[in-house]
Amino acid sequence: MSVVVNSDKVKYTDNFIETKYTYQYNKARKNGDVVEVTPISENLVLKTSKKVPKLGVMLVGWGGNNGSTFTAAVIANKLGLTWPTKKGVQQANWYGSLTQAATVALGDDVFVPFSKLLPMVHPDDIVIGGWDISSANLAESMERAQVLEPMLQQQLKPHMQTLKPKPSVYIPEFIAANQISKSNVVDDMVNSNDILYKPGEKPDHVVVIKYVPYVGDSKRALDEYTSEILMGGLNTLVIHNTCEDSLLATPIMLDLIILGELFTRIKIKRETSSDDEYTSFHPVLSVLSYLCKAPLVPKGTPVVNALNKQRACIENVIKACIGLPPENNMTLEHKLPFLMAENSKLDGEPLPKRIKMQNGQH
Ligand SMILES: NC(=O)c1ccc[n+]([C@@H]2O[C@H](COP(=O)([O-])OP(=O)(O)OC[C@H]3O[C@@H](n4cnc5c(N)ncnc54)[C@H](O)[C@@H]3O)[C@@H](O)[C@H]2O)c1
Repeated sequence: MSVVVNSDKVKYTDNFIETKYTYQYNKARKNGDVVEVTPISENLVLKTSKKVPKLGVMLVGWGGNNGSTFTAAVIANKLGLTWPTKKGVQQANWYGSLTQAATVALGDDVFVPFSKLLPMVHPDDIVIGGWDISSANLAESMERAQVLEPMLQQQLKPHMQTLKPKPSVYIPEFIAANQISKSNVVDDMVNSNDILYKPGEKPDHVVVIKYVPYVGDSKRALDEYTSEILMGGLNTLVIHNTCEDSLLATPIMLDLIILGELFTRIKIKRETSSDDEYTSFHPVLSVLSYLCKAPLVPKGTPVVNALNKQRACIENVIKACIGLPPENNMTLEHKLPFLMAENSKLDGEPLPKRIKMQNGQH
């Protein structure tokens, strides 16, 4: 399957997909009681190289639960492994991966796999290496991690035991350095609403992390959120989540690798600039925030923690590269009679039949 965009603004050559794209955003400024908003349009050219390179990835802590599970998942998917479980035969898959298991709506009811929007590295083709202070081979690491089913481990063993991490220097801070407070993930939400939050007000917040050896990689998370509703009422949400931590992390690692590589092949310039003025994204790739617990951004730029915004950012940047506008959810073509009539003519089918098909009764 491939996606072809019919537009005189999109040019496909042997090596590139080049698109003229009008990027629109607003600048807003508070002036006393007045907020001045200035819509801005930038006419850009986005040029994406179609040449997917050979991709290697080096993991620090390769022999850990994440490193060994990631390696196992790449090999299991590449070999199309299946293994028996008490619920039946399980197949290797990339569930949880944005690039491998998500789809994107391209108009009406047409969805395409995310990986078909632009040429991307295929997970099967990634070459993995890395460092660890442990000298265990990857088969031993996989066994120690206790993440994957034994019948799968058995099949993977011959492929994993030849893989050995390069030696590394012991750095105490490396271990579990990310076990910190998550209160900053709501900062942008709090700062965006001075009706609900006074200046400088922060939510009360406590995180407790306990290491329980018996449950291993099967992590438990108990989250309780209490918020205020109308007239001082309280709304409390309690979420209990149990899952293998590394099976959550592995597809995210894959997406970081695949999208990180893709974004190096995208060059952007103003339409009026010359060809030697094409630039890449800033090396702190904040477009990947969706995949990071605490996203890094270029100095002085805002951190976006809202998950939907982070996901929309990745999707819309990739859509821009093939000349498609961001999803605006206005769907006027289904609300304004004159557009509805034109739309049905475009499809060459009378409107009632289309509606019937959309209802899934065809
Ligand atoms: N939800 C999340 O964001 C999430 C989920 C899982 C893991 N993580 C984080 O990812 C990291 C790896 O997780 P994991 O489950 O694989 O942990 P792990 O403890 O199983 O593995 C860490 C590996 O790093 C190695 N190591 C330690 N110091 C090193 C050094 N100086 N140089 C090279 N290797 C070194 C260890 O020997 C070990 O094999 C951790 O920081 C963890 O907190 C985050």
